Amino acid sequence: MTPLTVQTVIELFYLLASILFILSLKWLSSPSTARRGVLAGELGMVIAIAGTLLHHGIVDYRWIAIGLVLGTIVGVPLGLVQMTAVPQRTALSHAFGALCVTLVGTSEFYLRSPNVPRFMMTVLAIEVILGSLTFTGSLMAAGKLQEVLPQRPITYRGQNFVNLALLGVAVAIALDIIVHPGAKALFPAMVAIPLVFGVMMIIPIGGADMPTVISLLNSYAGLSAAAMGFVLDSKLLIIAGALDGSSGFILSVIMSKAMNRSFTNVLFGAFGQVEETAAAAQETRSVRSASADEAAAILTAANTVVIVPGYGMAVAQAQHKVRELYDSLSKRGVEVRFAIHPVAGRMPGHMNVLLAEADIPYDRLVEMDDINGDFPQTDVALVIGANDVTNPAARSDSNSPIYGMPILDVDKARTVMVIKRSMSPGFAGIDNPLYYMDRTLMLFGDAKGYVNDIVREFSANHS
Ligand code: TAP
Repeated sequence: MTPLTVQTVIELFYLLASILFILSLKWLSSPSTARRGVLAGELGMVIAIAGTLLHHGIVDYRWIAIGLVLGTIVGVPLGLVQMTAVPQRTALSHAFGALCVTLVGTSEFYLRSPNVPRFMMTVLAIEVILGSLTFTGSLMAAGKLQEVLPQRPITYRGQNFVNLALLGVAVAIALDIIVHPGAKALFPAMVAIPLVFGVMMIIPIGGADMPTVISLLNSYAGLSAAAMGFVLDSKLLIIAGALDGSSGFILSVIMSKAMNRSFTNVLFGAFGQVEETAAAAQETRSVRSASADEAAAILTAANTVVIVPGYGMAVAQAQHKVRELYDSLSKRGVEVRFAIHPVAGRMPGHMNVLLAEADIPYDRLVEMDDINGDFPQTDVALVIGANDVTNPAARSDSNSPIYGMPILDVDKARTVMVIKRSMSPGFAGIDNPLYYMDRTLMLFGDAKGYVNDIVREFSANHS
């Protein structure tokens, strides 16, 4: 092939990849098309890599082959983590992507300096600053979620001022380099200061807000990749980076809204500081508990049951047992639906994915706003490993740190049953008044084991 036709093929590959990325995002927005969305994204990436490998600028494929092997060695185990660890796994992917963007930006600068046109130097500075702060910020976020770093927010007086000052210095250096692109000595400072800023930015944010922060870092990683696209003159990178940047940003906004928190509150509110005091002030009031056979009897007598899954169901991997419970109850003529809170679990769509994995029909999954009005007519609300998303304090206690967060109104159901192992708080670290209500029965145990016991009771005594 002549160089011109190779270039045409590359452009066609990139166009096809861009279309697939856009379709992928569209399909990922609904559980019924999500699998197709994942496949489209994967195919788009394969085509994008294939197009890049055809590039006539490549003189030696050996380094690329070594990179592909190393990437596969790191990537395969990363793809096999438990679903509950996906947020920190995603943060690690952002960290790798951002590191790559920073290294490419740095090498481009030293290759081109001092002949870097002003526009090019501006996007290169954006690329490097966003890339560096996203690299360390994502590592910190992954560490907090994996609990290798303390989840508690660490704050001190004047912290926001110090952080903004750091960023300000980095921007000032960037402006100087944009005007004097030969100032090579300043460039390392433009990389190092955002690296420190990334750490400082995450320190005051509590573990409970990490998923939102990761989604925001996703957005930064996308924007830095788009900036890299301008530097490398790659339309594909600009499109993919812009899609990544905007979808990450939209997701962060959706998550903040679902918790009734503003963006600035998530980033500067030090949410989670209440953890220790709340744990210390834990209730001494008594709760009513029940055994699996009592729970089975109550469920069999019900006409309508709403199951509320949460993080504990994911940890226990109880979704397949929950499917058996759904089958047993449906066979007995009980109307069973699932109430899905937008931030139940630890990542967007967490519950939808788990329930889909257990082949629970999509039409049984009802979003919070659509099911909340039905709780007063519901015989049993069965909460499985959910806590914060059912906490009525969010509605009634203006002193609660989650006050204003929309919740599932399970406390309005005729009977509430809660499967969890203890009286420990959820991710927000606060007590849940739901457990002390007269209509609430606590079913203490591991979600998978307990649901299994209920299903066994059905077949033994209620068939
Ligand atoms: P949580 O409030 O975190 O509560 C989960 C409960 O599951 C815990 O109280 C725990 O109690 C129980 N549990 C843990 N392991 C269990 C097991 N093996 N068997 C049975 N129960 C188990 O969960 P949620 O209601 O799903 O709320 C999610 C939280 O994450 C919210 O605070 C939300 O704001 C936050 N968050 C979520 C997201 C997204 S996108 N999903 C994003 C940002 C923040 P025991 O220890 O007593 O068992």
